[in-house]
Amino acid sequence: MQYKEVSDSETTYTELMIPSYANFGGKVHGGIILSLLDKVAYICASKHSHQYCVTVAVEGVEFKSPVEVGDLVEIKASVNYVGRTTMIVGMRVECFKPQNGIVRHTNSCYFTMAAKDDLGNLVEVPGLILSNDTELRRFCEGKFIRKISQEKREILKSNLTNITRKEMEADCKEERCQIK
Ligand SMILES: CC(C)(COP(=O)(O)OP(=O)(O)OC[C@H]1O[C@@H](n2cnc3c(N)ncnc32)[C@H](O)[C@@H]1OP(=O)(O)O)[C@@H](O)C(=O)NCCC(=O)NCCS
Repeated sequence: MQYKEVSDSETTYTELMIPSYANFGGKVHGGIILSLLDKVAYICASKHSHQYCVTVAVEGVEFKSPVEVGDLVEIKASVNYVGRTTMIVGMRVECFKPQNGIVRHTNSCYFTMAAKDDLGNLVEVPGLILSNDTELRRFCEGKFIRKISQEKREILKSNLTNITRKEMEADCKEERCQIK
């Protein structure tokens, strides 16, 4: 099996937040940042796998503070974990305000990307060479993220389809909803 260094596919991408990215409140649309993240995850995953890649799942996207027009958004990405045909790309988003030099960490998240061939079949990706403690820690975190995301899918599939209307009503009793 072929192995590749994490540094071979590490990616840093910076983009200026222009006025057309803003929502009615004057802040940058969350969807713009999501789209950038997807693009950077693709760059990183395709650099590692040398294949066309598709987004399979997204974990941990949350916005700690708004991104503003005029900010420079920097996304640092690396392949943290590899399975057989998928890679977990970890990304850290920072906002830099040129006027005062303040840098804010706005979010970190994980995209699972799958490698596909020209016919759309999944293909095996190279293994990862872990060269330091950080890369080893991220690999273990990636393995854990994959495990909890699999468990979450199984819970959603089994629990919520077998639940009766009565159980659902009881579950919602203390919630802010009216059931007709
Ligand atoms: C996700 C997808 C690749 C799974 O295909 P499948 O044949 O059902 O795959 P398998 O169950 O054999 O799993 C293949 C790999 O995907 C992973 N996988 C499957 N579903 C997953 C999910 N929901 N979340 C994370 N990983 C997932 C498996 O763990 C496995 O990883 P590994 O090879 O690294 O061990 C397939 O459903 C797909 O191509 N989806 C569309 C993706 C796409 O087009 N994205 C862009 C949307 S615009």
